[in-house]
Amino acid sequence: MDHGEATTTTEQAATASHLGPPLVELVDVNKHFGDLHVLRDINLTVRKGEVLVVIGPSGSGKSTLCRAINRLEPIDSGTIRIDGQPLPEEGRELARLRADVGMVFQSFNLFAHKTVLDNVTLGPRKVRRVGKAEAEKEALALLDRVGVKNQAHKVPAQLSGGQQQRVAIARSLAMHPKVMLFDEPTSALDPEMINEVLDAMVALAREGMTMVVVTHEMGFARKAADRVVFMSDGQIVEQATPEEFFTNPRSDRAKDFLSKILTH
Ligand SMILES: Nc1ncnc2c1ncn2[C@@H]1O[C@H](COP(=O)(O)OP(=O)(O)O)[C@@H](O)[C@H]1O
Ligand SMILES: [Mg+2]
Repeated sequence: MDHGEATTTTEQAATASHLGPPLVELVDVNKHFGDLHVLRDINLTVRKGEVLVVIGPSGSGKSTLCRAINRLEPIDSGTIRIDGQPLPEEGRELARLRADVGMVFQSFNLFAHKTVLDNVTLGPRKVRRVGKAEAEKEALALLDRVGVKNQAHKVPAQLSGGQQQRVAIARSLAMHPKVMLFDEPTSALDPEMINEVLDAMVALAREGMTMVVVTHEMGFARKAADRVVFMSDGQIVEQATPEEFFTNPRSDRAKDFLSKILTH
């Protein structure tokens, strides 16, 4: 994650030694909602161990991109591969893909009437057929990792938003995903809870997890991202290292966007 000089180019970042082979590949991906062309010829490769931050104005297609990667949203044309395999259309193969691709949303989507522990063990027990004792042992270890082990026997409503989001991260990790997608994971949180969630994500990045993170948190991008992708109107307009992007954006659209988020 340390690429040395601030002038490191995108190409150098993409060949940084800690990165493995391509894990998520999008080739000429297009997607429409009716007349609206929301993903336009998206070409993007995320390598094993890479942390990619996706940034851009509201409505630029960031969520659709994430949803396309785990096929919550079908695409109109192009190819998406996870670990070399094209996305399956449906059935058991699709369920397996969903297990490979963890997703954490803005809203935590925890089961309200189940305990934190049950929320985390449910997926492994149902989908991966892990036994109860083993699933609980791993769940507690994951909850510990994100700092909420002592909340295991509560229900979500008894937790703060920041704690719930960390439970959502543990729940995703329990499926042993190959890649984790985060779609604005801190944007629904009160400001004082943002850092505890970002810290858990930084730790995950440092452990080598492959991550695609939609966020405007520049501190996270600078600390953890290998690469920043700037989207506007369904296109990838610019990609660079965080340092390069935030200090020297090249396109007018990126300059305009950054001037808006930086003045707040
Ligand atoms: N299910 C949908 N049906 C119709 N339009 C949609 C749907 N989901 C998103 N859109 C539109 O697609 C565009 C991209 O949305 P989205 O991917 O959510 O952008 P972002 O996450 O960057 O804000 C927006 O104009 C949005 O209104
Ligand atoms: Mg969005």
